[in-house]
This record gives sequence, structure tokens and C-alpha cells, in this order.
Amino acid sequence: MSRILTGIQSTGIPHLGNILGAIQPTIKRSNEVGNQTFGFIANMHSLNAIKDPNLIKENTYAVAAAWLACGFDYEANVFYKQSDVPQVTELMWYLDCFMSYQRLTLAHSFKDKSNRVDEINAGLFNYPVLMAADILLYDAELVPVGKDQMQHLEFTRDLAQKINHHYQKEVFTIPEIELNKTTMYVPGIDGQKMSKSYGNSIDIFLPEKKLRKNIMKIVTDDTPLEEPKNPDTCNVFALYRLLGNEDQIKDLEEKYLAGNFGYGHAKQALFELILSTFSTERDAYTKLMDDRAEIDRILSIGASKANALANEKLDQLRPVFGMK
Ligand code: ADP
Ligand code: TRP
Repeated sequence: MSRILTGIQSTGIPHLGNILGAIQPTIKRSNEVGNQTFGFIANMHSLNAIKDPNLIKENTYAVAAAWLACGFDYEANVFYKQSDVPQVTELMWYLDCFMSYQRLTLAHSFKDKSNRVDEINAGLFNYPVLMAADILLYDAELVPVGKDQMQHLEFTRDLAQKINHHYQKEVFTIPEIELNKTTMYVPGIDGQKMSKSYGNSIDIFLPEKKLRKNIMKIVTDDTPLEEPKNPDTCNVFALYRLLGNEDQIKDLEEKYLAGNFGYGHAKQALFELILSTFSTERDAYTKLMDDRAEIDRILSIGASKANALANEKLDQLRPVFGMK
């Protein structure tokens, strides 16, 4: 049996990159016999970026609805929001006291903004340690994430190893990183990594009209309609390739190479593919977002399960750190 765990911040509605890079791989793992899977909403992490409580709450519902709409089985697994298990911040403190300050200054999340030091709060600086606590609190063995999270996972592993070594026993399980080669780096509408913070997402849960508009904004070159086009350098094709089956991909490739096929046509094909691929998820998402009480009910089930496990782990940990 493996313990799988991943979290999604409540910084917006999960986009195609979050779904292909983290949510779907985690759900796939959760469906393997014998695995126990923890899926959660990292709403405490999102506070370092968002200060409007209503927006954080709204995003928390959106992330929860996305997890559930994609088919995460909350009864068989542990599905919760981070703030329902505040014990994680106690563990964060213990970890903080072992985390090298110097190493934290190298975290991408912090370094990317280090030219605007006055805007950085200590929460952003400490972000990787809270993430390590999320993982180590449940002795997760496998963490499916996108490529951007690799460095954070390495911090977590090194921290756990350092503590185990210091106390000369297995205080924490060392988690493995799971990266899926094809989906670990989903490009956004501008060809860079898709990210909420870059404003380049494809939001598959948008109403149809808005989703179409979203897809029509994908950046392409100015090859005239009648000329052949290179699928390998096209942002639309890169996304289509992630979702289509072999025949669909081959068919689109041929159209690109034949000419008389414009980027508008390619975008329309991608739009239709997204609608058909995610039709069940889109319906389920809308229904759940209209029934917040149901989301609350589901999250409270997960909160009880996660609390019990967190308390058990902290009971073991407090004497290790000399707190009891
Ligand atoms: P964002 O960068 O949009 O703020 P998050 O940081 O909340 O997204 O990411 C949540 C999860 O989704 C993480 O595991 C992250 O690696 C994954 N993820 C985010 N963007 C992508 C992407 N473009 N391709 C693949 N995985 C991604
Ligand atoms: N930092 C992750 C992100 O932005 C979200 C996250 C928080 C997470 N805690 C986690 C992911 C624990 C995996 C495991 O994407």
C-alpha cells in the first residue's frame, strides 16, 4: 500500500495545467487497489498571495469542486482543506527549526520575487516549509505534482532526511516525487508554463462562450491561412496533443501540414475537444458550485479523518522534539 498526497492552492479556479499535472495523476493513483490518497486544498498557502477572505473562500470551493468533479472519491480517500487541520502549523514550526535559512532563500517561489523584497511576506518565504509539513504530517510516500514543484519536494525530502539523521531514527517517511513526463509542464495560451499567476490559463470550467474566447486567445504565429503550418511549434497543437487520441492528433497534424487550415480552425478543434473530454467534469463542477452545503459536508468528513491521523503523528513527534 502507498500513501499518496497532493495539494492545490486556493488561488483561483483550477486550470488545465493543475488538472493534467496534479489532480488527474493523483486520482489515477487513488484508484489503484490498496493505495490511500490524500487530496487537499492548500488554502493557508494561498493567504500569502490573497488577502480578501471572501475570495479565498470562493476559491476554496472552486478547488474542492474541481477535485470532486474530476472524480476524486472522498469516501475511500482523505479529502480536506488545509486549515481544518491546523496541527500542520505546529509541525511547520518544528521543521522550521531545522530548515536552513540559506536554502530557503534559493526557493523559486521566493527568488522570483526577490527583486521586489518589500512585497514579500514571511509566509511566502516560509511557503516550502508549510508544504513540507503538509506532506510529512501524513507520512506520504508519493507526491504527484507538476515540474514547478520539484524543488519544493526536494526541500521536503532533505529536511526529512536531516531530521531522521539528527535523531538517528525514522521520524519521517521520505516522500518520492511523481512527475508525469507528458503532463508535468502544460503550456499556457502564450506557450509559457500555464499558471494562475501568469494569466495564461485555460480554464476548462468556464461557461462555454467564455471558454471559447479563452481558447481563441492562444498565441499563434502569422503564417497565412493557405500555407502549411508547423504543428511542433504551435501552442494550439501542443495542447491538442495532450488531450486527443492518436487518430485525432494525426488528423490534426495532417491538416496543419496540408495548408488551407487556419489557426482559427485549429482553435475551434481544440475547443470542441476540451468540451467533449471534460463534459462530465464541467457538469459536475457547475452542480457542486451551486451546492456549497454539499461541499462543506464532504470537507467535514475529510477533516475528521485528517485530524485523527494528524493527532496521532503529533503525539509521536512531540517527545522526539522534546516537547513532551
Ligand atoms: P499555479 O502555478 O497555477 O498557481 P499551483 O501552484 O496551485 O498552480 O499548482 C497546483 C498543482 O498543479 C501543482 O502540483 C503544480 O505543479 C501543478 N501545475 C500547475 N501548473 C501546471 C502546469 N502548467 N503543468 C503541469 N502541472 C502544473
Ligand atoms: N505548493 C503547491 C503548489 O503551489 C501546493 C501544495 C501545498 C502542495 N502543499 C502541498 C502540493 C503538498 C503537494 C504536496 O502547487
